[in-house]
Amino acid sequence: MLHKEIILIIDFGSQFTQLITRRVRESKVYSEIFPHTITVESIKNIKPKGIILSGGPMSVYDQDAPSVSKEIFDLNIPILGICYGLQFISKELGGKVEGSFDREYGRTKFNIIKNSKLTEGIPNQSIVWMSHGDIVKSPPEGFEIIGTSEHSPICAIENLDKNIYGVQFHPEVYHTEFGDRLIKNFLFNICKCEADWTPSNFISSSIEEIKNKVGNSKAICALSGGVDSTVAAVLVKKAIGENLHCIHIDTGLMRKNESQQIEKLFSSQLDLNVKYVNASQIFLQRLKNITDPEQKRKIIGNTFIEIFEQESKKIEDVEFLVQGTLYPDVIESVSVKGKSATIKTHHNVGGLPEKMNLKLIEPFRELFKDEVRKVGYELGIPEDFIMRHPFPGPGLAVRILGEVTEDRIKILQEADDIFISELKRENLYNKIWQAFAVLLPVQSVGVMGDARTYENVLALRAVTSVDGMTADWYPFENEFLAKVSNLIINKVNGVNRVVYDISSKPPSTIEWE
Ligand code: XMP
Repeated sequence: MLHKEIILIIDFGSQFTQLITRRVRESKVYSEIFPHTITVESIKNIKPKGIILSGGPMSVYDQDAPSVSKEIFDLNIPILGICYGLQFISKELGGKVEGSFDREYGRTKFNIIKNSKLTEGIPNQSIVWMSHGDIVKSPPEGFEIIGTSEHSPICAIENLDKNIYGVQFHPEVYHTEFGDRLIKNFLFNICKCEADWTPSNFISSSIEEIKNKVGNSKAICALSGGVDSTVAAVLVKKAIGENLHCIHIDTGLMRKNESQQIEKLFSSQLDLNVKYVNASQIFLQRLKNITDPEQKRKIIGNTFIEIFEQESKKIEDVEFLVQGTLYPDVIESVSVKGKSATIKTHHNVGGLPEKMNLKLIEPFRELFKDEVRKVGYELGIPEDFIMRHPFPGPGLAVRILGEVTEDRIKILQEADDIFISELKRENLYNKIWQAFAVLLPVQSVGVMGDARTYENVLALRAVTSVDGMTADWYPFENEFLAKVSNLIINKVNGVNRVVYDISSKPPSTIEWE
């Protein structure tokens, strides 16, 4: 997509690079991450309003230390270096960087020693967050020191002639008290950005772009009932109207009543043109006797693609496929070097576009999940739908450990519904990234009334997360857990024991399979 103004972020491998992008976008300025191998020619073509050099795990003197062409310093574009970025600027322009005996990690005090456009509005002393080994020993010629910290006497520098700035700490991390102000100072005082990155601007330029791309052709979309594909479909509908054909395949592996709710939302509130396919029996049949998690995922993925393909062939002259791919998926697939082990085969309609010779429309390739949610609000999609927790493609099948049967789906649906309803009642639902129940392939002995029972164990899972990549288990009050456990054991036939999962990701994953 063409952006009126963009801040280019050059990635030197820091775990916080995505956070920099988010902070910039939260200030309503569009930003995008590029690998440090980007050429100066490409940068010139992009015409960024500013460049941010990210942190990174290496020392600038390491043999394979990442670098970007020195010519970026002569482009007349404002530059901000963060941590490794500062060290890179210092070394490349003739300053001195050294390993420090004291590694500085965590919170520390930052002192402003000279007024600067970068630190405007920030108190003379504030808390910043550090994570580095090397420090700048002497700044390059033409640079002045504007701030210090205990272990980094050269903690912030500027070169007013060249419009180049650098800080040793991480302004993008929440623990840095005035980090947001510093980033805004860079964007607005130094780069003169206009803050035009808003959901409504995004929507109008996306609609224009999709119209131009699709013309009078037809597009199809697999509406899973998830937030991303739904918002994508509503946006594309605005651009191409009746030429968008949606297909919803009911796998029978959805939450309680979810398919009916989705159907109502799609047709009566969102006015989407949807074909509903109830394929639950086919999925059940193919999952019979299957207990291996990867095999389950593959069967579901392949069956889904098969049915979607059959259905879409019934619509003539389709040229495009709409997908709700998000930015983190795109960056991850670009930046991961080498081949990582398959932890879980994610179920998407991957492979379909090539197979069916379709071109892709992915309006959210540049967005984070919370940005998609904002676009969804702006498009008038109801809030309770937008705020729904993520749901995995293979649905409840990966939450029923062991064989998936109709009875076990029913037990899980009932228990999960009680858990989620209680979360909503207690206003906890929106504080949690994802919560669900898991049915274990384990029976335990219980006593109900005077009778012995031998029934299923059910686990509850609730995690906080920003993007699903890492997650912490949610510390519920004991009373809440006790209430949910009681309700489930009393109301759901087939469950006589409830446990709470207290594992974080990593080393566990969010889903159990
Ligand atoms: P894990 O279990 O790998 O999950 O920690 C991370 C996030 O991804 C979701 N998930 C999926 N999403 N297709 C999806 O679209 C899938 O096959 C799939 N499997 C897991 C999971 O719910 C969590 O939000």
